[in-house]
Amino acid sequence: MLVPEQFYIPPVGSSDELVQSLPAMSMWDKGVLDHEKETVFRDSWLCMPKQLIRQFNPDVRSIYARPAPGHPYIDVLKGRGNATKIRTLGESVMLFRGSEPKGNPELRCFKNMCPHARYPMLEVAHDSDGELYIKCEQHGLVCNEYGKFVSHRAFPNATPEQRRRLSMPDYKVREWFDFFFIARTDSPPYSFEDTMRPVWESLARLPLDEFKYRSIGAEQRIVEGNWKLQALNYEDWLHIRDIHKRPSGLADAMDLESARMELYDDVTLMWAYAADPADGFDPKFLPDRFKDPSDPDGRRVYALWWFVYPNLTLNFYPWGLSVNIYMPAMVDTERMKFDPEKTEFLWYHYVWDEAKYRDIDSRWLNEQVDFEDVEAIKYIAENLRSHAHPRSRGLFGNLMTGPNTETGPWWLNRKIYNSMFEPHAEVMIPRVRKLYSAAAI
Ligand code: FES
Ligand SMILES: [Fe+2]
Repeated sequence: MLVPEQFYIPPVGSSDELVQSLPAMSMWDKGVLDHEKETVFRDSWLCMPKQLIRQFNPDVRSIYARPAPGHPYIDVLKGRGNATKIRTLGESVMLFRGSEPKGNPELRCFKNMCPHARYPMLEVAHDSDGELYIKCEQHGLVCNEYGKFVSHRAFPNATPEQRRRLSMPDYKVREWFDFFFIARTDSPPYSFEDTMRPVWESLARLPLDEFKYRSIGAEQRIVEGNWKLQALNYEDWLHIRDIHKRPSGLADAMDLESARMELYDDVTLMWAYAADPADGFDPKFLPDRFKDPSDPDGRRVYALWWFVYPNLTLNFYPWGLSVNIYMPAMVDTERMKFDPEKTEFLWYHYVWDEAKYRDIDSRWLNEQVDFEDVEAIKYIAENLRSHAHPRSRGLFGNLMTGPNTETGPWWLNRKIYNSMFEPHAEVMIPRVRKLYSAAAI
């Protein structure tokens, strides 16, 4: 039984003098991970790369799409009435292309478990046979394309309550860029559009349709440390000066003094100007708010580092997009067991500028920064492996602005605490919300 007080994180900006991080045991305890799977990962929008569905990758265990004999899954999803199955964090979900609205049929998502007696509604990818219904193969429950009860042999005169209970649990799905986003709950606390609005605002002038998927060697890795350690490392910019130190590090590839953190309800943005303007975005591709008023043409943004709660990063560079997803690592695919002390790290590249992409390691330090982060997290993970002092907690400084602020990790700790114990509580106090939200939004 988890005790909320032992996890409590105050809203970002509240005046507590001692702001503590989540307890150490949250990085190794199986009960915590089980609770996170039913809260943090259920009540938020989880990213599913379409690439995993286009091309079966047997190494990836936390998101699993089994190929159907004869056709790639992605094609199945294009046709009206077609369906496919994805298992994420051990749970099977069905993606189903309906028939409406006309001309742009909607993708729907259901829990792939029959509400009658738990048979899978779908075993492999399925082409419509002309009728848009969903049928269970065990005792013949039929639901319509919205997952609503139509008929069942054992319920010839189904009552309203039976009809409701025999309808398929309705999950939520959205498509954006090369991803599906799934919320495995009928009422995600934030709409997908509200979640992503700040991200989309920053991308309004970028030609995303020119960003093309590029296969890289290390799309899936098992790395050391709880998934939260990866996400916290991303939110922590204090370490850049030391872990990615100069010379020839991230600390001097960007103008560290100019780095800014923006906090929103479900996403955060860190950005900074490039030390060498040649390594930055042409200002015409970013909203005007990213211009430096004192030097609007000379200063150029090195990167937009977006974090989408709980475990996705969208890293936009002048060469394209790098995507990371931090999934709890599944270590036993038969029994669906997870290791809280390891992370399945998924990594995808989308290339926009070929010439710049050739300099991805020399100018944007792609592999170097990744290596330094994975190493740093490994040392923390090793320190935690003794499982000593399970209730001990770290501290955050409570500077709200400036290069030494720790609002990013504080925000993430608060988000996780909220998801686990107080889903409707505020993330930050109103004054901080105003301070950190960009004026444009
Ligand atoms: S399990 Fe599906 S109809 Fe009985
Ligand atoms: Fe880092």
